[in-house]
Amino acid sequence: MSTAVSTEAQTPSAGSPAIAVRDLRFRYPGGADVLHIPEFHLQRGQHAFLYGPSGSGKTTLLGLVAGVLEVQQGSLHVLGADLGALNAARRDAFRASNLGYIFQMFNLIAYLSVEENIMLPCQVSPERRRRLNGADLREEARRLARHLGLGDYLHRNVLQLSVGQQQRVAAARAMIGAPSLLIADEPTSALDYDHRGRFLDLLFERCDATGATLLFVSHDQTLMGRFQTQVALSDINRAAPQPTQPPSAPNGQAG
Ligand SMILES: Nc1ncnc2c1ncn2[C@@H]1O[C@H](COP(=O)(O)OP(=O)(O)OP(=O)(O)O)[C@@H](O)[C@H]1O
Ligand SMILES: [Mg+2]
Repeated sequence: MSTAVSTEAQTPSAGSPAIAVRDLRFRYPGGADVLHIPEFHLQRGQHAFLYGPSGSGKTTLLGLVAGVLEVQQGSLHVLGADLGALNAARRDAFRASNLGYIFQMFNLIAYLSVEENIMLPCQVSPERRRRLNGADLREEARRLARHLGLGDYLHRNVLQLSVGQQQRVAAARAMIGAPSLLIADEPTSALDYDHRGRFLDLLFERCDATGATLLFVSHDQTLMGRFQTQVALSDINRAAPQPTQPPSAPNGQAG
C-alpha cells in the first residue's frame, strides 16, 4: 500500500537486549544536559516501571528510545537497532514496525474515528499487519476497544471523547499488531480505578502473549508492585535535575 514505510535494514535482531544505553547524553537547544545515562539495559520481555519527579527527563528518555528524538551523544540500541545510525525517516519506519507508544499527550489523529485511530499502525506498517496472523484488522481494533470499554464509541470522532476515553484509544492503538516494545508515558493518568485495572490487565496479558518488552512511566507508585523491574530515573541519570520553577518565586516558595 502507498502509505507503507520501508523497514529494510531496521529489522530487529532477536538476540539483543530490548534497550541498551551507553553514555547517552541529551540536551534541548540552549539548555543543559537533561540526560546523561552511563549505562542502562532492559532485557527482552521485561516489564519495567520508570519513575521520577516531573521534569526529570522521563518523556525525553522515552522519546529517544522511540526514535522521536535524535541521539546526540553516546549509543542507544533498541531491539538491536543502533538508533544513532538511523536518520529521522528510518527511525520513523523502525518505530512504526516495532514499537507501540502511548504518548503522554495521546497524539490521536483528530479527523479519524476511534476505530480508525486504533487500526492506523497496521495500515502504516505491513509488519504490524502481518503480526495479526490473519485476523481481520477491523475486528482486532474492535476487540481491543471493547476490552477497554470503548465498544460504544467505535465510530465517534476522537475529539468528542473524554480525556480518559482518548487515553484508552491511544492504548489500544499502541497495542495493535503486537509491537515488540511497548512504551507507555503516564498511560493511566486520566483513568478511574476500574478502567485502570482493566487497562493494566490487558497490557500485561498482551505483553506476555507476544513476549513484548514494556517500559512504563507513571507517577502513580501504587502500580509499581505489578512490575518485575522498577527503575528510578535518578539512579541511572547523572545529569543535574532541571529546575521546574523560576528560582525567584515569591517568598522563596515554589509553585
Ligand atoms: N521540547 C523541549 N524543549 C526544551 N526543553 C524541554 C522540551 N521538552 C522538555 N524539556 C525540558 O526537559 C526536561 C525534562 O522534560 P521531560 O518532559 O522529559 O520530563 P518528565 O520527567 O517527563 O516530566 P513529567 O513527569 O512532568 O512528564 C524539563 O526540564 C523540561 O522543561
Ligand atoms: Mg513526561
